Amino acid sequence: MSADLVCFQSTCSARFPVTEVIYNCPRCGGLLEAVYTIDRDPAGLKRLWLERRLSNAPLDQSGVWRFREFFPFLNDYRHAVTLREGNTPVLDAPLAARYGGLKRLAFKHQGFNPTGSFKDNGMTCGTAQALRLGMRRVACVSTGNTSASMAAYASAAGLEPIIFIPHGNISYGKLAQALEYGARTLQVEANFDQILALVRVLAERLGIYLLNSINPFRIEGQKSIMVELLEQLDWRVPDWIVLPGGNLGNTSAFGKALREMKDLGLIDRLPRLAVIQAEGAAPFYDLLQQPDRAALQPVVHPETLATAIKIGDPVSWPKALLEVTTTGGVVEKATEQEIADAKAQIGLCGIGCEPASAATLAGIRKLVAAGVMDPEAEVVAVLTGNVLKDPDYIYRYHTGQLQAPGGEALISSFGNRPTVVPNDSDQIAALLGSERS
Ligand code: F0G
Repeated sequence: MSADLVCFQSTCSARFPVTEVIYNCPRCGGLLEAVYTIDRDPAGLKRLWLERRLSNAPLDQSGVWRFREFFPFLNDYRHAVTLREGNTPVLDAPLAARYGGLKRLAFKHQGFNPTGSFKDNGMTCGTAQALRLGMRRVACVSTGNTSASMAAYASAAGLEPIIFIPHGNISYGKLAQALEYGARTLQVEANFDQILALVRVLAERLGIYLLNSINPFRIEGQKSIMVELLEQLDWRVPDWIVLPGGNLGNTSAFGKALREMKDLGLIDRLPRLAVIQAEGAAPFYDLLQQPDRAALQPVVHPETLATAIKIGDPVSWPKALLEVTTTGGVVEKATEQEIADAKAQIGLCGIGCEPASAATLAGIRKLVAAGVMDPEAEVVAVLTGNVLKDPDYIYRYHTGQLQAPGGEALISSFGNRPTVVPNDSDQIAALLGSERS
């Protein structure tokens, strides 16, 4: 088994050892990806991964490392630190299906991860690589979830986490996690895209290992979300996989995983990817509208209450573009009102998620209405973050206080206002009425 870092730019394709500390191609500046020759038979791999479910070994209990033959970049698994990430459920959601206009809909809920988001799948691999390279300090810029996850994994691995976040623009749930997990936390007066540029310079200058999704090993870990999903579906390929798009690392990871699974013979066809962005931060949507897709036009001032995907200049767009086109996929965008209402519907399923994740259902509803998605299609939407990540948003929505970034009030179409009552059983009984006739 050999592993290399290869330049994603097809005109370059330069190869580098997997142990080099690089995030972009030193020759042309292109994105990098991990490439392997995996020489295994698909039936054997499926059996091995299934058998590991019976094991109590920490790595076998991880929903990422259980599939380690699918991303064999490590030479020594003692570097791997697991918090038992992955292992997230696929949940049927008939109510959300009806809302979206579909006959059936399942959610793969990455919010069940140790720090409550899909970032854990990638972070366990990124941290392992940091340890393997002998790095001491790790850093990321984040809209919140990456920093929460990196803080947890770095601390668990004995590394020093340093996080950079846009001041005042991440939810308290996520900021609280980073503080609790012991990250040195720098709140910068700039937006995500500006801080990423800053952190890249600082990482180089101070010899800090960068764990944003530009790091190819994060992407390798996030591939496990697709492998685990397909295993849960008994390797039956759905028609669509729907996910929110921000920096587009996850879109890149899902597409790479699907292509590699097909190449290995683990699946026989590709599902279509549907990437949903928030209307105020939709440069990838805009790109797909153009006939010439040679350059993405960044959104200079991205705006959305779904702060996780408030990104105007997504780093991984060239990879994501390849993946969306290869799968015959689409990109859609959703308004603040559409995201808020879809989120409430996911809540009413007893499932719940954070705002960015709800863009999936909002997008599905639009794609079905437009005739792009067949109501009979098999659809899996990936909920990327836990409902408790952003409780402030939830309270405001249900009490009619949620405002779009421009200041206009959003309608709490499915609002569920709490009622203040006196400590008086007669009055409460009168309010609740009797179920007995
Ligand atoms: N959903 C959630 C909950 C996220 O936190 C993110 C990204 C995305 C979707 C978009 O994923 O960037 O791979 O397209 N959050 C990053 C962060 C940017 O810093 O936590 P993407």
